[in-house]
Amino acid sequence: MSEHFRVHGGARLVGEVDVVGAKNSVLKLMAAALLAEGTTTLTNCPDILDVPLMADALRSLGCEVELEGDVARITTPRELSYHADSEAMGKLRASICVLGPLVGRCKRAVVALPGGDAIGSRPLDMHQSGLEKLGAKTWIEHGCIVAEAEGLHGAQIWLDFPSMGATENILMAAVLANGTTVIDNAAREPEIVDLCLMLTQMGARIEGAGTSTLTVHGVTELKPTEHRVIGDRIVGATWGFAAAMTRGDVRVRGVNPHHLDLVLEKLRMAGAEVTVYEGEDEGFRVVMDGRPKAVDFVTLPYPGFATDNQPFAIALSAVSEGTSMITENLFEARFRFIDEMIRLGADARTDGHHAVIRGVEKLSSAPVWASDIRAGAGLVLAGLCADGATEVYEIFHIERGYPGFVENLRKLGADVERVSS
Ligand code: UD1
Repeated sequence: MSEHFRVHGGARLVGEVDVVGAKNSVLKLMAAALLAEGTTTLTNCPDILDVPLMADALRSLGCEVELEGDVARITTPRELSYHADSEAMGKLRASICVLGPLVGRCKRAVVALPGGDAIGSRPLDMHQSGLEKLGAKTWIEHGCIVAEAEGLHGAQIWLDFPSMGATENILMAAVLANGTTVIDNAAREPEIVDLCLMLTQMGARIEGAGTSTLTVHGVTELKPTEHRVIGDRIVGATWGFAAAMTRGDVRVRGVNPHHLDLVLEKLRMAGAEVTVYEGEDEGFRVVMDGRPKAVDFVTLPYPGFATDNQPFAIALSAVSEGTSMITENLFEARFRFIDEMIRLGADARTDGHHAVIRGVEKLSSAPVWASDIRAGAGLVLAGLCADGATEVYEIFHIERGYPGFVENLRKLGADVERVSS
């Protein structure tokens, strides 16, 4: 029997919540462990299904992986299998990030084409052309991406778009290539910086982390390391939006507030009082008095407004005073979420990659279906502002990104329960 969430609207969220390690970082860092023989330890790993799936994927390549609480210990052998086409691989979008490390270590890779969220077309052309510049041949065969190289050499690579996945794969292949690689128009997301930091600790020579030009001087060998995964800025943003939408007061801990500068600025524009905390106690607090004011949002690569936060922007706009325009520049299918929001009484319409939302005073409960992690979380936030009980189905999507979501919501005062469908 499956389960769903029942969300009773009306509560004001008040209290404190801890953010776990970033999903979009931990999976790449686990893949990076393939680059060095020996035991790499990652701490602050989130308790989400993708982590044991990635562990299985690494085991199928010959690694030993131990998961204990928030610690992952990955022991990589000298000889790795380069066949990453197990069942676990096919279930993970992030499985593609083993491609770069395998090409770097084994000079060849067969990687199952990734699964993951239904948020629109996710081509791999930039991953392929980047690896080809480094000297590999790549092609698609029997549902897998195959790469082979005699040896990898440094190259100048210009990305058409600052893709996170392509930047990560090229970077992880280039660290062991012969000579210097320059990746121009590279992604600048905090998770890329986290990966660069870990690779540098492993002995890689990388300059420009966090800028759009990454320079990688290849080395012959990397060594294992211990690394703490950065806090999940998307989960942090989810709580910030939840506080603003419910006119609440929430202190969020465990995330660098500067990774959320634009999100927090948008919440201020919507009328929230936002305080940021740095150092040991890093995080932020969002206090909202009264109804949020409408704000426009445009999704762009970092430091722009993250596409993963777009459903929360739509949910906030749906209950704000005034009209908001939301522009989606990365994943066209993300607007499917709007159909579910309309079920909840949102006054919304889309035209191409723009959505116009006229805020209503209150949403109205309905059964709704999550189509991906963030859309699912967005529906729960919307349910918090609806009258009656909103049933949110397909919650396995939400649980791929939010450990203890219901428990955290309840701790903040929300009336949410998990029920058998
Ligand atoms: C990562 C994140 C995802 C986030 C996205 C954008 C993970 C596991 N997922 O996904 O949550 O929404 O970044 O911030 O980290 N593109 C191409 N060709 C390519 C590669 C990408 O055209 O070879 C396009 C994509 O279709 C998309 C854009 O580039 O429009 C950005 O994609 P990318 O940054 O690569 O996303 P992912 O790394 O897949």
